[in-house]
Amino acid sequence: MRLALLPLVAALTSRVAAVGVVGAAEGFAHGVTGGGSATPVYPSTTDELVSYLTDDEARVIILNKEFDFTGTEGTVTEDGCRPASNTCGSSGQDAINEAEWCTNGNAGDGSTTISVTYDKAAILGISVGSNKSLVGEGTKGVIRGKGLRMVSGASNIIIQNIHITELNPQYIWGGDALTVNDADLIWIDHVKISLIGRQMFVAGTEASNRVTISYCEFDGNTSWSASCDGHHYWSVYLLGSNDLITMQGNYLHHLSGRAPKVGSNTLLHFVNNYHYANTGHAFDVMSSNANVLIEGNVFQNVDTVLLENKGQVFAAPSASSNSACESYLGHTCQANSFGSSGTLTGTDTGFLSSFSGKNVASASAASAVSTASAGVGVVA
Ligand SMILES: *[C@@H]1O[C@H](CO)[C@@H](O)[C@H](O)[C@H]1NC(C)=O
Ligand SMILES: *[C@@H]1O[C@H](CO)[C@@H](O)[C@H](O)[C@H]1NC(C)=O
Repeated sequence: MRLALLPLVAALTSRVAAVGVVGAAEGFAHGVTGGGSATPVYPSTTDELVSYLTDDEARVIILNKEFDFTGTEGTVTEDGCRPASNTCGSSGQDAINEAEWCTNGNAGDGSTTISVTYDKAAILGISVGSNKSLVGEGTKGVIRGKGLRMVSGASNIIIQNIHITELNPQYIWGGDALTVNDADLIWIDHVKISLIGRQMFVAGTEASNRVTISYCEFDGNTSWSASCDGHHYWSVYLLGSNDLITMQGNYLHHLSGRAPKVGSNTLLHFVNNYHYANTGHAFDVMSSNANVLIEGNVFQNVDTVLLENKGQVFAAPSASSNSACESYLGHTCQANSFGSSGTLTGTDTGFLSSFSGKNVASASAASAVSTASAGVGVVA
């Protein structure tokens, strides 16, 4: 009898130890505390989860099961379109006429009007207020059918070890998984994102300030592909003003575009990520003020690593130029590694001084980057 109790005691102990945020953010969102030491709460319904995320209390919210939002707001049937990009019918992505995308020419020559039926809950993410930690237990924390949207003005939010999935993946404009727009100190860590209609992560046009996206899995494997090849196109879109974004240790796979697309005057530190099986492009640096430092990453089977560079890119091109990082980042920049991938050029060092005085993520050699440390269930 006594012996039989031991495993139970061990299980309880490890459960207690696992409650709450594990580790600390590196990079720009360093110092984020989320809900801090608030007593953990365990929502049991979708309504309760929404209320905890949206209210004015500092909260540590633990997910120990799946929260399924599909059907909670009903379905909509209306006119949408089959865009010109969908040359493969039911294995392509059709579009909802959001922002008149279908009717203002964006759907391309030859697009046709079709009826679309979609789940309404996925269209707008759950509002997440300031001072929140949202943490999944093991691999149990799943949010199905709705994303997360940091409310305007929000700060100090941690989202760790959860899986966001199934946001109308068959439709462009079907929903965004994570949205930051007018916020500060946001840490997205060990989050898995799959089967999304639109963006997996989007930083909107207002200032997102300090954001770290670390050890997440961007899984683009889909049966509804805008590029008609089983890969998701709408990956990571960084559009904000004065945004400081660290992307560290993420695993991005089976994508085909915008991974990431960087606009406005975003400063992006893209370090130690593993990019695998991208049939389109990884980087699209779309504006003249965008500054992108790309170091210590692995690019394996990435067709086009850099689609266009209208801004500044430093891609750690040579030992002599990589030492230019030392005085601004506190480390020598690490070379990227390429296997069966396109080329990456980027020799601009003028913007490296923007890293001075900021919290900068560490960088390992590309040879040390592994996919095993990314995604849910592995937080450590
Ligand atoms: C978040 O926490 C900080 C520090 O305790 C506090 O000053 C601030 O008012 C909180 N924000 C909100 C929206 O509750
Ligand atoms: C893609 O998803 C399908 C359906 O879940 C699965 O059968 C297949 O193994 C996945 N492929 C990859 C490369 O992950």
